[in-house]
Amino acid sequence: MLSILVPGGSGQLGRDLAAQATDSIDVTAPSSSELDVRDTGQVVAAVTELADRARAAGRSPVVINAAAYTAVDAAETDEERAFAVNADGPRVLAAACSSRGVPLIHVSTDYVFAGDATSPYETGDLLGPLNAYGRTKAAGEDALLGSGARSWIVRTSWVYGKTGSNFVETMARLEKERDELSVVDDQTGSPTWSRDLAAGLLELAGRVAAGDGPSQRVLHCTGGGSTTWCGFAKAIFAELGADPARVKPCATAEFPRPAARPAYGVLSNASWREAGLTPLRGWPEALKAYFAS
Ligand SMILES: NC(=O)c1ccc[n+]([C@@H]2O[C@H](COP(=O)([O-])OP(=O)(O)OC[C@H]3O[C@@H](n4cnc5c(N)ncnc54)[C@H](OP(=O)(O)O)[C@@H]3O)[C@@H](O)[C@H]2O)c1
Repeated sequence: MLSILVPGGSGQLGRDLAAQATDSIDVTAPSSSELDVRDTGQVVAAVTELADRARAAGRSPVVINAAAYTAVDAAETDEERAFAVNADGPRVLAAACSSRGVPLIHVSTDYVFAGDATSPYETGDLLGPLNAYGRTKAAGEDALLGSGARSWIVRTSWVYGKTGSNFVETMARLEKERDELSVVDDQTGSPTWSRDLAAGLLELAGRVAAGDGPSQRVLHCTGGGSTTWCGFAKAIFAELGADPARVKPCATAEFPRPAARPAYGVLSNASWREAGLTPLRGWPEALKAYFAS
């Protein structure tokens, strides 16, 4: 029996975590206006309330941090604010969780890597973020690992969900608006449906609450397999019943954006499997299920 607090409850992942609440897992998922992870007082009050309520009900408290500044391009000119949410936020959460004996699961990103690998990144590989968002997320990981709190960092990638503004929803809109479109074919990653990620995090929360494993750990959890943004867009068109040939491959250099992106962001799921957790299904199967749902 778990009681879970999800800062960032109004985001793609936060909503899917809340949607998977059951009789044995209660989920409180405040939005940023209800719980701002930059605000020490609010965080301490929320974690204390969680710990007291859970223990009174004979449940185990766990925090899953889904709060983040995720506007990758905007972060280039707003790094201070991104840092406050993505690095100070986890630090404040870790301190509050540590003092109340509450384990913390924190979500991070493939963008902490430089993207120059040729095989999937393992959890211990060297970080080398290329952009401000990645730097702030890497700083958040450091803050957690340096806090001594019982904490699990779960890196994921290319997240899409029903409630977000994301690549899948953008492609669905552009399919209606344009005859043809060009999509970059030289960035490779693993699309991850936030609903599948939420299920994986809840499985991890159960293990963490049971006291399994070391007190700090970095894990990778993404949809299975990999593709390019162009390959992903073609698959989305196919799911929409549209001709995938309307999606044309192009190079990143043809569409310069404020933030550099890693060319290769595939994360190995070996750590997830070794922790005894269920790997997420392959990304094409998940995409099919997303459109069927
Ligand atoms: N999206 C991706 O492609 C992707 C890829 C890899 C990793 N990730 C990671 O996955 C996690 C979840 O991402 P997501 O896609 O669900 O993001 P999202 O949809 O952008 O949601 C982010 C959430 O964080 C909240 N938030 C922002 N500032 C906050 C603050 N100061 N205090 C508390 N909450 C705050 C937002 O609330 P408001 O809406 O109220 O501002 C929103 O609920 C994040 O850690 C992200 O870095 C995402």
